[in-house]
Amino acid sequence: MIVPRYLVPIDYKSIAHYFTDVLILGSGLAGVRAALAVDESLSVTIVTKGAELEICSSTRAQGGIASVLDPLDNFEDHIADTLTAGAGLCDERVVRFVIEHGPDRIHELIDWGTHFDLDENFHLDLTREGGHGFNRVAHALGDSTGKEIMRALFIQIKNRPNIKICTNTFAIDLITADNVCYGAILYSPQTGMKIVWAKQVILATGGSGQLYRETTNPEVTTADGMAMAYRAGARLRGLEFVQFHPTVLYLAGGARSLISEAVRGEGAHLIDKNGYRFMPDYDSRAELAPRDIVSRSIVAQMAKTNSSCVYLTLKHLDTAFVHRRFPGIESICHQFDLDLAKDNIPIRPGAHYMMGGIEVDLDAKTNIEGLRAVGEVTSTGLHGANRLASNSLLEAVVFGKIAGEGASIDAKRAPKDYVVFSLEGQCEPTSGMPLDTDDIRNTLKSVMQRCVGVMRDKAGLQEANDTFMSWQKFINDYQFKFPRGWELQNMLTICRLIAHCALIREETRGGHSRSDFPEQSDNWKKYTVVERVASGDENDITEPLEN
Ligand code: FAD
Ligand code: SIN
Repeated sequence: MIVPRYLVPIDYKSIAHYFTDVLILGSGLAGVRAALAVDESLSVTIVTKGAELEICSSTRAQGGIASVLDPLDNFEDHIADTLTAGAGLCDERVVRFVIEHGPDRIHELIDWGTHFDLDENFHLDLTREGGHGFNRVAHALGDSTGKEIMRALFIQIKNRPNIKICTNTFAIDLITADNVCYGAILYSPQTGMKIVWAKQVILATGGSGQLYRETTNPEVTTADGMAMAYRAGARLRGLEFVQFHPTVLYLAGGARSLISEAVRGEGAHLIDKNGYRFMPDYDSRAELAPRDIVSRSIVAQMAKTNSSCVYLTLKHLDTAFVHRRFPGIESICHQFDLDLAKDNIPIRPGAHYMMGGIEVDLDAKTNIEGLRAVGEVTSTGLHGANRLASNSLLEAVVFGKIAGEGASIDAKRAPKDYVVFSLEGQCEPTSGMPLDTDDIRNTLKSVMQRCVGVMRDKAGLQEANDTFMSWQKFINDYQFKFPRGWELQNMLTICRLIAHCALIREETRGGHSRSDFPEQSDNWKKYTVVERVASGDENDITEPLEN
């Protein structure tokens, strides 16, 4: 079989076993918010693969969190902007639910100690980003919103005696039997393999930016959660919808740092190498069009001018204001001898956010009993084909609360004793030539960048799909004993599924642009859905289903 059920063989009699009421995989905003919603009478274990809790996309969030926080704004307009950005694939029920719960969740963050930036009248200083028709993005520390929110929530978590945190702990696979989830197989370098049995499991492992060579995402975003859920039989949908952030710093040898959309929200322009402001040629909303449009326009202008980047310019804005408003971004630019306020800043699009993911309902439930999922790892229906800026932190807090509360109720209803059993469908131990995981990882990221990037076509997608299929034959049943190897297997599984779904969707919509099918098609107003079939034959994915 191309994708095995479990990545490692487990002899359950010779391994350490632990027990918890609620197991949460991932310590980003979604996982932490879920943990805070679990009843304090229940034990919670948060597992995270980084050496520190802080290593996640959430702490990197710059622009802010979107919500209706100004008396002159209203829910209907935020809903309409979200639906427009989502290009016909949002679930309006979910959009309404998330947006209407936004203000309460943000005031709760404030009550828990988050200091959002205030204006001179001590009201929230709200800004605008692409696709928003109103200033409704709350931010903190200027351009380090995620860092401030997570600082406050980590203090809350550490003050809860019922919550245990395991850093440096890699989740390899979910344990299931008869479509019920009972826990997970974990690994840490200090203690080796172990099983944590749980009454309820919440998957909050974040996104998949590391599948691409150029990304704003941290090292941990290797699509592990999506891949382990897929192996366990969860339904994944909309995987072809990858959001490329338009403005990622492009300097040879430099980190691909994000330059927040809020920079354009405050008035920055995009110019090409000739100094020409090109966005008004592509869209009447110019620099504040939704991200998919801005990214496509940048790629088109780069091709037109035969250059490898375009530039952000803020020269027409007040220098002191720019430095005060964006201290984090200014300090990154400064490291490369650039002044955000005075220099042209070289940028180009980079992989930023995964709209597709594990299908969940309004209770954050997956199709596997006992398994909820929350945050970027999911497809809730909020983002459709393209996420509206600053809506993902919002989704994480709204669905995080739902997931934690729901898991509490179900864990309390569960039988007192845990179910412990030996695992079925385990892989056979294999031996083979040692694999150079870093070499494969880098090549995989390059193939994704070249063939499954901002602009796609049949030839490129077919090449990517065929390449990943052939690699799967010798990589997926290889028996790795360390996280880099399991990450590679997860990355390969999800890369292949993305290429597969992108090949099938013969149209251009949101975060999926086909140069050979440049129009949006009414035949494609539906999600692609993939689900692992444990049939043992070569083709382990179902045909896309209509939603
Ligand atoms: P994360 O915060 O990524 O957390 C995932 C966690 O899972 C991590 O702790 C990771 O270590 C852990 N994990 C992963 N795999 C495993 C495994 N196998 N075993 C154990 N643990 C594992 N959104 C906005 O709304 N506003 C913004 O301003 C904004 N700015 C952004 C800026 C940047 C640079 C980036 C990268 C993203 C930004 N986003 C923004 C998107 C947003 O930050 C993310 O979508 C959101 O934070 C995801 O939260 P999460 O909890 O789902 O995942
Ligand atoms: C940004 O600050 O541009 C990122 C905002 C987001 O991804 O929502």
